[in-house]
Amino acid sequence: TVLILDFGSQYSHLITRRIRELGVYCELLPCTQKMADLHFKPKGIILSGSPYSVYDQDAPRVDPAVFDAGVPILGICYGLQEMTTFFGGKVDACDHREYGHASVSMIKHPEHPHMDRLFNGLASEVEVWMSHGDQVSAAAPGFQVIAHTRTAPFAAVCHEEKPFYGIQFHPEVTHTVDGQHLLRNFVIEICQCESSWTMESFVDKEIERIRSIVGPEDHVIGAVSGGVDSTVAARLMHEAIGNRFHAVLVDNGVMRLNECANVKKMLGDKMGINIKVADAADLFLGRLKGVTDPEQKRKIIGNTFIHVFEDEAALIEKELKETNATGAIKYLLQGTLYPDVIESISFKGPSATIKTHHNVGGLLEDMKLKLIEPLRELFKDEVRALGKILGLDDELVWRHPFPGPGIAIRVLGEVTREQVEIARLADNIYIEEIKKNGYYRQISQAYAALLPVKAVGVMGDKRTYEQVIALRAVETKDFMTADIFASAEWFLCLKRISSRIINEVKGVNRVVYDISSKPPATIEWE
Ligand code: XMP
Repeated sequence: TVLILDFGSQYSHLITRRIRELGVYCELLPCTQKMADLHFKPKGIILSGSPYSVYDQDAPRVDPAVFDAGVPILGICYGLQEMTTFFGGKVDACDHREYGHASVSMIKHPEHPHMDRLFNGLASEVEVWMSHGDQVSAAAPGFQVIAHTRTAPFAAVCHEEKPFYGIQFHPEVTHTVDGQHLLRNFVIEICQCESSWTMESFVDKEIERIRSIVGPEDHVIGAVSGGVDSTVAARLMHEAIGNRFHAVLVDNGVMRLNECANVKKMLGDKMGINIKVADAADLFLGRLKGVTDPEQKRKIIGNTFIHVFEDEAALIEKELKETNATGAIKYLLQGTLYPDVIESISFKGPSATIKTHHNVGGLLEDMKLKLIEPLRELFKDEVRALGKILGLDDELVWRHPFPGPGIAIRVLGEVTREQVEIARLADNIYIEEIKKNGYYRQISQAYAALLPVKAVGVMGDKRTYEQVIALRAVETKDFMTADIFASAEWFLCLKRISSRIINEVKGVNRVVYDISSKPPATIEWE
């Protein structure tokens, strides 16, 4: 395992990705992590970049024990500067802030062969990606320059005796030609990690890990939504403990068309998972009555979800007792992914709330259950790969994300059963056409929203005065930023979709396409 300490750089995730791509397992932890509390022994440590300057009052500092761990260290950007400061060198704001391409020239050190190992096999001059306002102005005692650029005399340094390397540029971004080669040199050659981490090995290890945590009499409960994360988590848990896993699907009345029945069929009938559907549509819609504020809607749905889920858990527990089973529900399964984990452990504290995302975190407070999160080390595309290995249908593996508050945040204004039905039918036609025309995989997320306004139209010589459907389709890698999906053929397809929706969905006489990118718009309308 390689330990990556995160100082808050936007690229920290990427370092993790790249190293896993090399078949080496690594963990990203906040830079405040104390070495003494680490639950594993790393074979190497990487210090990430950061938005801070090392000379800022509140600049994040690494645990000095890192430098006594007896393993190779690679400091990237801020990591280099932090290491330099720690060992007594100097860092200053540069005259020319450097963002973008730069060409670095290597300096060989035949007298210290370990110093050349980081750039082993690379050309003597390579194109790299820089993004910094500070730079090293004097190397720390014991360190020597191993590469420079036109403006950065200390673009890379190495300790004369120890395997401590620092580089000013970012090897993890694709703009750095040979960046992956450099990371391979560090992780495989210098740290001597084995390249053996694959998704298949993950499945076996994770099932073993679950079995070692969950006792032979213990039961696990988990909410499923029909999305890829909760389905993969459920499938893995079922594989590990069979019928001692209980899946609960809460029908909140704002799911997609036929969703509950489909999910029940897929998880229950096809996968053989113990699944219960809690039909709470009336309860949810009742509580949403008259509510138009988006945040209010999210809160109501989140809280109601917790109550319904808890009631369902109590029922399952009761049934267990009645059938004389000795066990009890001890764990709550959650399909939390790595980016969620990282966001919540970041040393910077939670970022400003744009929208309260609905999750089941609140469940733990009352239920006295322990959390179990088999996907907490994985990225989304790794979860998809895992889904494939576990035999999930392509259709499910590639499913677009769907928000917890469902159609309630896609019906703008008050959420009524009738409004939900209109949005649901329009969305169903939209997604059906997207799939039929081969666009589903190219689009990251698509849906139909129902606007709370009426517009005038004409149908068969008659004036109409009906509502408007807004179609959204975006392309994105991480859902933090997104571009609208657009092409000439796609617009022709939208034309057909629009006429299908207006013809088939009662109450709609106009369809618009949302052409706003994120930011400044968000992906959902509410
Ligand atoms: P926004 O609208 O913030 O959405 O650009 C980004 C991604 O998050 C999804 N989303 C949610 N997912 N609970 C969820 O589980 C929520 O409350 C929620 N709100 C937005 C949204 O669909 C998109 O994929």
